[in-house]
Parts: sequence; structure tokens; C-alpha cells
Amino acid sequence: MAESKYHSASWAEEVTPLEQLKRELELFGEQNDRVQPDRASKMLNITSDTGQLLAVLVQTRGAQTVLEIGTSNGYSTLWLAEAVRRLEGHVTTIERDDEKRILAHDNFQRAGMEPWITLLAGDAGALLPTLPQAGYQLIFLDSDRQYYRVWWPQIRRLLAPRGLLVVDNAISHRSEMMEWMNDVAQDPAFVTSLVPVGKGEWLVVCL
Ligand SMILES: C[S@@+](CC[C@H](N)C(=O)[O-])C[C@H]1O[C@@H](n2cnc3c(N)ncnc32)[C@H](O)[C@@H]1O
Repeated sequence: MAESKYHSASWAEEVTPLEQLKRELELFGEQNDRVQPDRASKMLNITSDTGQLLAVLVQTRGAQTVLEIGTSNGYSTLWLAEAVRRLEGHVTTIERDDEKRILAHDNFQRAGMEPWITLLAGDAGALLPTLPQAGYQLIFLDSDRQYYRVWWPQIRRLLAPRGLLVVDNAISHRSEMMEWMNDVAQDPAFVTSLVPVGKGEWLVVCL
């Protein structure tokens, strides 16, 4: 009798290199951040359920142009890239830390995701003005929270019509972004929603 694919052990256990890497990075991030006393050496990755939410949002919006501010070692970028790959899109991601950028680059290569990712080196404050106006259908903001208010005119300029901004840590570190969040929420050009997934994801849609 021919073996059904549903009963084949090799089929059931098959894990793609991307899936394998994401699992490894989840463990690495957890262990590393627990023992690293220095904040700059922590990976500070999103949670896996935040990755799933990002994938759903990219898919729902049909976002082919995605910008991420704050790459770290590329864990969240892999979630975004996996989603844009299905749409034949592209992710641009910004990281100023040289060591984290090297880790991210190695991870993108290992997962075979390089064709869908551009990794920009430098400070987001300097790089954002160089990026194309209305160029991004989804922007994921996961960086230095004290600058969000300063970067907001640029982020706003970069968002495409009906573009979606997703901000991480909107519950875990809400007090650090409260004033900026209030200003944006009161702006009639946007609708917002705070989603209790992971560390709290704030969704801002450009009308
Ligand atoms: C929370 S981590 C990003 C985690 C990543 N999104 C993930 O989930 O895998 C924030 C990152 O932003 C970077 N960063 C902080 N300030 C920055 C700036 N002004 N320009 C560019 N990158 C910055 C840090 O080096 C750090 O790697």
C-alpha cells in the first residue's frame, strides 16, 4: 500500500530553514537578554505572536513596501520578509548598531531571505529623510522610543495613502510614548487601535 503523505514522518517533521532559524532566534533572544546586563547587547526581539500579527497585517494590507525602524538581529525582519515574499514585495530595515547588523545580515543569508530585504546602516533620524515620500504601505517602529515624536513628521511623510504604522511596546512602555500617542490619536488624519498582543502593538492608519 502506498504511504499516505499524512502518515509520513518526514513530511510531518519538515521544517523550513526560515522556520528553524526563527525558533533558534526566539531561544537565543530569551537566553541572551536574561543574562546580558548591558541593554545595548540585548536583542529585544518582538514576541512570536507579534510576528504572526505583523504577517497578518502585511497580508491584509497587501503591503508590498515595508519599512522597519530597529532591526536588531533581524528576528522581526524575518517575519515581515516572509509575509512580503508572498506578495512579491520588499522590506527595508534600519539599524545603527554594527554588531547587530552583522548578526542580522548573517540571519537573512542563512534563511535565504536576502532578496526580500534591504538592510540600511545608520541612525534612523538621518536616514528617514533620504527615503521616498509615501513609499511604504506598512511601517514597523521598534527602536529608540524617545525619538518617536521627533521622527513622526518623517514617518508621516513616508506612509503611503491608507498606510499602516505598527508601534511595538505600546503597552509595556506606554508612559514613554504617551504624549506622542495622544497627539497622533487626536489628529483627524489617522485612526488608531491598541492591540494587546505581545508587548502591545499600536496600529495607526493613515486616512
Ligand atoms: C527593540 S530593538 C529591535 C528589535 C527587532 N525589531 C526585533 O524584534 O527583532 C531596537 C533596535 O533599534 C536600534 N536603534 C536604536 N536607536 C536607533 C536609531 N536612532 N537608529 C537606528 N537604529 C536604532 C537598536 O540598536 C536596537 O537594535
